[in-house]
Amino acid sequence: MTDWDERFGRGEHVSTQPHALLERAIEGRSQGRALDLACGAGRHALYLATRGWQVVAVDVSRAGIELTRERAASNGVEIDVRHADLACGEFVIEPETYDLVCDFYYLQRDLFADARRGLRDGGMFVAAILLAGGDASQARPVNPTFVLQLGELRELFKEWKIEHYFEAPERSDQPDQHSWRTAEIIAVKTKSDERASLFSNHRPRNRNQNSDSCMT
Ligand SMILES: C[S@@+](CC[C@H](N)C(=O)[O-])C[C@H]1O[C@@H](n2cnc3c(N)ncnc32)[C@H](O)[C@@H]1O
Repeated sequence: MTDWDERFGRGEHVSTQPHALLERAIEGRSQGRALDLACGAGRHALYLATRGWQVVAVDVSRAGIELTRERAASNGVEIDVRHADLACGEFVIEPETYDLVCDFYYLQRDLFADARRGLRDGGMFVAAILLAGGDASQARPVNPTFVLQLGELRELFKEWKIEHYFEAPERSDQPDQHSWRTAEIIAVKTKSDERASLFSNHRPRNRNQNSDSCMT
């Protein structure tokens, strides 16, 4: 059982309200194939599926994927829900397969190249991920492994068309928002991504920053 299984079991992080960034990203766009990385209890997968997207949703938490499955069933939509540890390479992002890849509040730096490669030309990467720095109200020092550095996310997608990039100057006090600072991005793949193809033989991973317990 993961920490996240326990949190979902306690009813934490189970809101069905999607992040406003995803609503903004798909507004006026045609539906297509979407991948929700670290989907948790499925709020974004569900949001997309109920709007006609064909969604694959991946998470390591069995409680999270069970909630996602239940929510899909009770809303009468299909979501291809996969139980997999992304940090151990248990889910392979097929190249040039998706029109949208989203990542909300999950940082695994070596997944970005796979996410980039997994998008078709014209596809969107949409993310909101915790951000380090500059906030005196943080009670404890933050391990840089688990938070983005200022500008890091924008730099990763700098050759793409960046439709939106924002680094929250302060932690949010909104009840439904994450209490940490975040970096947000909507980046559109404009042409064949040469940089991503450099990583094409980079599989499988079996151990990295996010997991020291992958089976070899
Ligand atoms: C903060 S929650 C975010 C959930 C969802 N993206 C959302 O915004 O509601 C982080 C999620 O990452 C998942 N996660 C953590 N490590 C993972 C891994 N190695 N592989 C897949 N999912 C992982 C957790 O199970 C949890 O569901």
